[in-house]
Amino acid sequence: MRQDWFAQARFGMFVHFGLYSAAARHEWVQSYERLDDLDYRQYFEHFDPDLFDAAALARTAKRAGMGYVVLTTKHHDGFCLWDSALTDFTSVHAAGRDIVREYVDALRAEGLKVGLYHSLIDWHHPHFTVDWNHPRRDDENAHELNRGRDMAVYREYLHGQVRELLTEYGEIDYLFFDFTYPEAKDGWAGKGPEDWDAEGLLALCRELQPGMLVNDRLGIPGDFVTPEQYQPTSPLERDGVPVPWEACQTMNGSWGYHRDNTDQKSATLLAQMLVDSVSMDGNMLLNIGPDGRGAIAPRDAATLDEIGEWMRLHRAAVIGAGHAPFTPPREGVYTRRGDRLYLSLFTWPLGVVHLPGLADKVSYARLLNDGSWLRTSVSDPEQQADLMTPAGQAEGTLSVHLPVRRPDVLIPVVELTLTGE
Ligand code: GLC
Repeated sequence: MRQDWFAQARFGMFVHFGLYSAAARHEWVQSYERLDDLDYRQYFEHFDPDLFDAAALARTAKRAGMGYVVLTTKHHDGFCLWDSALTDFTSVHAAGRDIVREYVDALRAEGLKVGLYHSLIDWHHPHFTVDWNHPRRDDENAHELNRGRDMAVYREYLHGQVRELLTEYGEIDYLFFDFTYPEAKDGWAGKGPEDWDAEGLLALCRELQPGMLVNDRLGIPGDFVTPEQYQPTSPLERDGVPVPWEACQTMNGSWGYHRDNTDQKSATLLAQMLVDSVSMDGNMLLNIGPDGRGAIAPRDAATLDEIGEWMRLHRAAVIGAGHAPFTPPREGVYTRRGDRLYLSLFTWPLGVVHLPGLADKVSYARLLNDGSWLRTSVSDPEQQADLMTPAGQAEGTLSVHLPVRRPDVLIPVVELTLTGE
């Protein structure tokens, strides 16, 4: 199946890089601040990615335990990071660099899967009609702007650029289209699958890269779904069939570099979100927004280092793991890989953690960070609680005895070896 490597990898890196990285105040700055082409032009004129180092980026992703990376080839502002023959609004024209080429080569060298993000929206293209997301929606006589704009012309451009990306850069493993908003708002139309010719675009993907995963944001079903900045609380399904999913998450709420944003999530929270995703059979795509020079921001690098150190010891609980059909204790979540059940403990209990239903299912228990054996016991359900003695646990509960001191890792993980059925 197309999705096999994806389900195996579980953890990927999203990279949002473009002209907005230099604006340094959110990748939607052009729309948020209603900037016209001229206002925005200065970021093109001064685009200087001298510290964008694709090899370093690939190594960073790998060290963090990620199996794939997804780079913005073009975001909503229309600026292209590859050598497109269909426009001059590219990194090659701005700075003499085909960033996509550098990126693809670097990922392959590290053995990482190659993912591309491509915006369906394009605020630079003269035929992309103004709608309720467009930077010029509040212009005087804004509706007049659409006279003479022809989405059919844009559509051809969109398909042509996707064709370039899928023919000139070798094998592509993953494509994230973004995004569809069919509902009308504020007197403006939205944009739906027919605006992109979603069926035709998906067919083009299948033809040019038959093994490539395509996401669901064309507005028609794809190979996986993409919850954005929230965590699903159960495995996802459609018509009773499990659906592969990937939660995309930011470091601080912004995808593009946002210098003054201080909502940085802790490495612990992000690691929890990762195992939580895996526990629900999902992936997590964690974003970084390189800065105006293309460097990974120090605060992001530090977070990735911490996650990488945790992954070095705990990758078995994440990579190749998935949902386990047991009810976890209130202190954490379960992930499972083959005959191993992993209990990631988000809070550290006093002395013992009780695992309902596992009394006769576990042959060995240990802490994953240092491989230290953990004593287990099954208490007598008949035993009555009094003030001095704890109550017996429900029948079938396994108690795992823990040291008083919590191991000094982002999330302690108990590894349980399951006995054969
Ligand atoms: C969105 C946003 C965007 C971001 C993306 C990531 O739909 O428009 O800025 O690139 O989601 O999932």
